[in-house]
Amino acid sequence: MNGKVSIIGAGAVGATLAHRVLESGMADVVLLDIFKNIAMGKAMDLSDASPIVAHERGITGTDDYKAIESSDIVVITAGLPRKPGMTRDELVSKNAGIIKDVALKVRANAPSSIVIVVTNPLDVMTYLTYKVTGFPKNRVIGMAGLLDGARFIYLIANELGVPRSSVETYILGSHGDTMVPLISNTKVGAKPVTEIMDSGRLEAIVKRTRDRGAEIVSLLGSGSAYYSPSAAVFKMIESILKDKKETIAASAYLEGEYGLKDLYIGVPCKIGAGGVEEIVELDISAQEKAALAKSAEAIKAINRLLK
Ligand code: APR
Repeated sequence: MNGKVSIIGAGAVGATLAHRVLESGMADVVLLDIFKNIAMGKAMDLSDASPIVAHERGITGTDDYKAIESSDIVVITAGLPRKPGMTRDELVSKNAGIIKDVALKVRANAPSSIVIVVTNPLDVMTYLTYKVTGFPKNRVIGMAGLLDGARFIYLIANELGVPRSSVETYILGSHGDTMVPLISNTKVGAKPVTEIMDSGRLEAIVKRTRDRGAEIVSLLGSGSAYYSPSAAVFKMIESILKDKKETIAASAYLEGEYGLKDLYIGVPCKIGAGGVEEIVELDISAQEKAALAKSAEAIKAINRLLK
């Protein structure tokens, strides 16, 4: 396989993702940051590990967008992470400026790439990237639902003492306070979760899932989660490069699916070589539909602030 993945932003998420992609052997990597030395230093360090880990892939650290030319995938992690007590939405104006600049350069230098956005507030920054690049909707995707779902699965499995692999779920909606865990589609060992857990216990886990990112932010003191976000992006990259067409919850552009349009929001997507190849419309309860509509309103209110 002749993959090339460029990562914009060589911070915690970007560098951890570079590590995962490079050592998987799936692709060569370009790590780009406005702070050129940081990108170069991390690329050098990762290169030095290659004889030990035994791979022949290459990584370049740079601040020059020419290096991202002919990338299959460009991942945007550039931006500021949340500070303790800060909501993802408060990041909007600062990160919007960064995303506009980065998206224009991606459009100019890697016009055929599939773009995965990680910068928060996720659904808003993905929408902005779509608008600024002018790329078709299937080639701009936001990473979030897979991560939120993984947090939910981990907490359910832990609570019940069952293998994580026995829990199935999707989290839709915004990557934020209005995320929508699909209880109606959550199963443990093929049984509906509602037959296994009472609603109080389940509600407590939903709340912990929703607050998990903020809990990590406050424990770290500076910066936000990066091991699990990079794992989620890696899984999306793998599904694209290997054309696996896996159904993964991700932020996608809707044109009427789930009764919503003209926004990016978390929904189950079939992800393959073409990016988002299909939006999967699951049967969801009326309550979940209403929660999704509320989440969409919250995203649109912030989208309207973008100029
Ligand atoms: N162009 C390129 N790189 C930039 C730019 C820019 N215009 N602006 C900032 N950066 C770089 C920073 O120099 C830094 O190295 O983006 C990197 C961000 O890294 P961190 O501060 O470590 O943030 P990280 O934890 O990686 O999170 C990045 O992902 O999960 C989200 O909320 C999180 O929006 C945040 C993003």
